[in-house]
Amino acid sequence: MTLQEYKVRYEQLRQAIDAHLASVTTEEQFRHTRDRVIGRHSGLLRELQAMIPGLAASERAEAGKLFNALHDSVRRQLLAVETALSAAAPAAPALDRTMPARESWRGALHPVSLVLDEICDIFRELGFTVALGPEAETEWYNFGGLNFPADHPAMELHDTLYLEGGGLLRTHTSPVQLRTLQRHPPPIRILAPGNAYRRDFFDATHAPMFAQLEGLAVDEGITFADLKATLTHFVRRFYGTTRRTRLGPSYFPFTEPSAEMHVEVDLGDGKGPRWIEILGCGLVHPAVLESAGVDSERYTGWAFGMGPGRIALSRHGIPDIRLLSESDVRFLGQFAQ
Ligand code: DAH
Repeated sequence: MTLQEYKVRYEQLRQAIDAHLASVTTEEQFRHTRDRVIGRHSGLLRELQAMIPGLAASERAEAGKLFNALHDSVRRQLLAVETALSAAAPAAPALDRTMPARESWRGALHPVSLVLDEICDIFRELGFTVALGPEAETEWYNFGGLNFPADHPAMELHDTLYLEGGGLLRTHTSPVQLRTLQRHPPPIRILAPGNAYRRDFFDATHAPMFAQLEGLAVDEGITFADLKATLTHFVRRFYGTTRRTRLGPSYFPFTEPSAEMHVEVDLGDGKGPRWIEILGCGLVHPAVLESAGVDSERYTGWAFGMGPGRIALSRHGIPDIRLLSESDVRFLGQFAQ
């Protein structure tokens, strides 16, 4: 091939490339044209470049300069076409800054935790502190040390969840009475909140795991009058002075005498107001003091055990204890403060 022939072909290809570029109106056409013109293997420029080695050595420099000039101008034209196309493309929809933001969920305390905190605050003012104990207990702390006779039905397999290798899941928070008395000499005033476990079905009034709150006061000269005055103060503070409460006789192995307190509640289920038991209580049985190594001739005490779950139900008029295990924030959020 001669330089003359090269120049003829050069001119043909330059015009063809101009025509291709001039006809582009869409991005898809642009991509197609770009490949046709500068494609690595079959592009028009590639064809021109491939002719250069076939020229006489003295002519190659001029052919190369021509080629480079065309190559540069084609690149500039491609860039110009591409820029024009993207400027003409429809703009993305504008951000609407007036749209209200989604309200964020901040989280809240569970109704049972709220009740526990409130009760602890009332008793804290009376000099009570919080004591904790393990949920996996020994039979002695849960039963024997609390004066349960060896054949008491609560100890049977259908009531209590025993652990493999010994021990059990505590059926109440009363073992914390013994653990505290063993470690601290009276005077003692404690509250022991925590979970307790029983082999119960999960129905409207029972749950296999539930929160309890134990109270214990041991000192010289404590009487039933102290128990009654303290609990009356508590219910007035918690429920208000107009709510009716009553104290009735009861039985627990670890108290003597024993009592239970009821509150009148309307659960909002259409059945009207009724009495529900919120706690058991009594004077600490001398045998319990002695089990913990406390001199029962010198010291007396009173104790109570409450179900904060039931108290939450009574406070909010919730008819079913299972609702307290509800994970729906639309239900739980109603109690947030
Ligand atoms: N431990 C009892 C129960 O789980 C509740 C209880 C009753 C605790 C009387 C006490 C008490 O401290 O004096 O049913």
